[in-house]
Amino acid sequence: MAILEKHKAIETHATLLAVLSLLVVTIGGAVQIIPLFYLENVIEDVEGVRPYTPLELAGRQIYVREGCYVCHSQMIRPMRDEVERYGHYSLAAESKYDHPFQWGSKRTGPDLARVGGRYSDAWHVDHLTNPEAVVPESIMPKYGFLSDRVMDASFAADLVSTNALVGVPYTSEMIEAAKADFAAQADPNADTTALLERYGETVNVSNFDGQAELTEMDALIAYLQVLGTMVDFSTFQPDPAR
Ligand code: HEC
Repeated sequence: MAILEKHKAIETHATLLAVLSLLVVTIGGAVQIIPLFYLENVIEDVEGVRPYTPLELAGRQIYVREGCYVCHSQMIRPMRDEVERYGHYSLAAESKYDHPFQWGSKRTGPDLARVGGRYSDAWHVDHLTNPEAVVPESIMPKYGFLSDRVMDASFAADLVSTNALVGVPYTSEMIEAAKADFAAQADPNADTTALLERYGETVNVSNFDGQAELTEMDALIAYLQVLGTMVDFSTFQPDPAR
């Protein structure tokens, strides 16, 4: 058949085949991906999801810097084994303020999407300092040095405004107060009224690492403790239309 003869020209010409394949894949990809940037309803708004506090955001930077995502995913798939082990499957809205998202593709350790509140702050300090002391068979590296790295909050406003730049709805008030909010969250004796007004009553205020100084350990644990806790799943109803 004539058409098959013509197709033979493509099949026997490697460069032509490569160029045409690329063209087909590009069109297919564009058709699927481009609408997602323009549809307002791609991400369902879910009550409770809020931007990270400055301290949580700083902890998230440490999580990324230390490559925790190399061994840990943050994405619970809607399959029974995962939901039974980790909790409600992850909603798109829960990572809408993540830049970049931390879904990950490797689980050497467990998924961390809902690790918030599962352990005490002290457990996290012990575990990060020496994982084997808490979980004897653990192969997780030690991160005790984070307790020695004191953080000054001078970069907090920059961190928050950078996230505002890429679309996280931080107000100018939040940016201005970032430095104060950063310190207040790790100090149970501080006046946290303004912090809680800005980010909600459920923000964890704690001296996360138990030391007087505000360290990278505080920031990382503040981040771990909020993971997966923003949405109240006792009242959450998925929208059947989606
Ligand atoms: C080399 C791989 C590896 C890296 C890198 C790694 N972990 Fe882990 N992690 C594990 C393994 C394996 C476990 C399970 C054993 C245990 O609890 O220690 C684990 C467990 C955990 C747990 C307990 C989870 C649960 O539900 O019981 C937390 C929290 C955690 N890791 C946080 C972190 C953080 C934060 C970082 C980065 C600072 C990190 N991990 C880096 C391998 C890793």
